[in-house]
Formats: sequence, C-alpha cells, structure tokens
Amino acid sequence: MLVSIPEVLSKAEVAAFRAEMDKAEWIDGKATAGEQSGTVKKNQQLKENSALARKLGDGVLDALARNDTFISAALPLKIFPPLFNRYAGGEYFGTHVDNAIRIVPGTPVRVRTDLSMTLFLSEPEDYDGGILVVEDNYGTQEVKLAAGDLVLYPSTSLHHVTPVTRGARVCSFFWLQSMVRDDAERTLLFDLDQSIRSLGAEQGIDHPEVVRLSGIYHNLLRRWADT
Ligand code: NI
Repeated sequence: MLVSIPEVLSKAEVAAFRAEMDKAEWIDGKATAGEQSGTVKKNQQLKENSALARKLGDGVLDALARNDTFISAALPLKIFPPLFNRYAGGEYFGTHVDNAIRIVPGTPVRVRTDLSMTLFLSEPEDYDGGILVVEDNYGTQEVKLAAGDLVLYPSTSLHHVTPVTRGARVCSFFWLQSMVRDDAERTLLFDLDQSIRSLGAEQGIDHPEVVRLSGIYHNLLRRWADT
C-alpha cells in the first residue's frame, strides 16, 4: 500500500528546515547506499549523524509522532533516524530495492525496513523531473508531492527517482520497522481504522457498532503485532 499524507510539516517548518539545509555541506549520496543501489545512485546527502542531520531528523520524528494518519498507516515499532538528500543538475536514483536491514549508526539497533518514506521539502514547481516512481502490486505509481507532504510505501517495492533537470529536489528519506510486518495485514488495519474514525465522527465514538469495530481493530492488532 502506498499512502500520501499531506502537511506532515507546515510551510513555516519547511522554510525553517530549508534555511539551515541550504547553507549546509552536502556529500555524495553513495555513503548510505547498498552494493547494488550504490551503482545507480547519483545525488547528495547531508552527512549522516552530523549535528544538523540529527537536529532536523528529530524535528521530522516529532512531526510524525503528532500525525494520526502516519501512526495508523505505519504502526511504527522502530524508525531509522531520518536522512536528507538533494538532487540537482541531472542527478537521479536508478531502479533499486532498499536494503532490508539498517543498523542505526553508533548503536547495535537493527531496523528491518518494512516501509520507506519520503518527506518532500521542495515545492513541485521549483524543479523539473525528480519524480519518485514506485512499482507496487497495483502497477507503477508516480509521486511528486507538495513541500511538507510525505509518502510511505512498502520497502519491498522496486523504485527510482527520475533525473532532476531544473532546480533542486530536497527531501528527507528514512525507513521504519512496523509492529505489523505484513503489508496486507497492515493495509487491512489502516482501512479499518480509517472507517472507524469516519463512523465515529458521524455516529459518536460511543455508538455500540463503533465500539464493536474498535474492539475488532484492537483484537486484530493484538493478533498481528510484534512489540
Ligand atoms: Ni530507495
């Protein structure tokens, strides 16, 4: 399941991020690529674990913690510290699958990558190209969102970023291990939760059928979740 979530960061927050990023030092994006993905990756990154990357990454994590749609769609168990990249002057990322396991730098913590996220920090009209193309079970999806919006998709998907031929595409990208490993189960829980929220808004959250459906949601989560 591919889910787009609008306004994870406000425009003011995006502007504050960009003010710091635009004067930062950028390094070759191959630094965090795997063996295959390194051969097709041509972009720039903020140095992983630098003071700025950590500070901005914490800002992203705070915004995610406040976002009910993100929590519902991802059911996060462990989130890899967000990274930041930039594509300009024809840079691109060819077709690849993200590494299955990521070790959080400086720790023994391993994160199984169930979901991949891109948080857009440039407005779509500020660059040409730079489309995230994700091949999932339902066909190929093309993603280019407003600054502050986030897309989340299964890390099992082949994906690529088309060359940026004008301007610069700046994003945060990261991965997470979900409490629910299976994408189909996670998708069912997300759909059920979204329906319960709509029904609750219409009928009141103490309506007996809303209560019963909430019970079903939690009992499925209990069955499928690892903590
Ligand atoms: Ni990737």
